[in-house]
Amino acid sequence: MAVRKIIQPDNPILRKKAHRVTSFDSKFQQLVDDMVETLLDAPGVGLAAPQVAVSQRVIVVRLPDDEESRAEYGDEAGKLYVFVNPEIIKTSKEMVEGVEGCLSIPGYVGRVTRHEQVVVKGFDRRGKPQRIKASGWLARVFQHEIDHLDGRLYIDIASEVWELKPEDEDTGVQD
Ligand code: NI
Repeated sequence: MAVRKIIQPDNPILRKKAHRVTSFDSKFQQLVDDMVETLLDAPGVGLAAPQVAVSQRVIVVRLPDDEESRAEYGDEAGKLYVFVNPEIIKTSKEMVEGVEGCLSIPGYVGRVTRHEQVVVKGFDRRGKPQRIKASGWLARVFQHEIDHLDGRLYIDIASEVWELKPEDEDTGVQD
């Protein structure tokens, strides 16, 4: 496994629509392993393949395993999700505003309105179909990561974006 370099918006790969994954071979397994390692190293809560300069439709998501996250999400805290060719098939009418950041845009966060709940279907890393119903923060992370697969960044839809000051480094979600 290896930590890969996370690219920033000056790299056009981040703005491309990523290709569907069609092969679950060893090279793809290596990509998934590297994405997990890169996410944990950052650390972040979500990472999409285009962020490591690979234009393929795969995301990894992991909420922190801390006390706060456990209180809110129970078993979902610390659980690793790998979704290949993910699609949002259902969204709640209810929208929620929240603050999010992005590992590809270090030092900034923004206010973004997202669906409170989404149902995502796709495949696991071996190609087996899977789906998840996500709410709250987890739903936000899935929407943010799936946007990456279409070349969309949170700054495109944020109502406000601001630079983090060193003293509030802990604020915001880094995806
Ligand atoms: Ni991001």
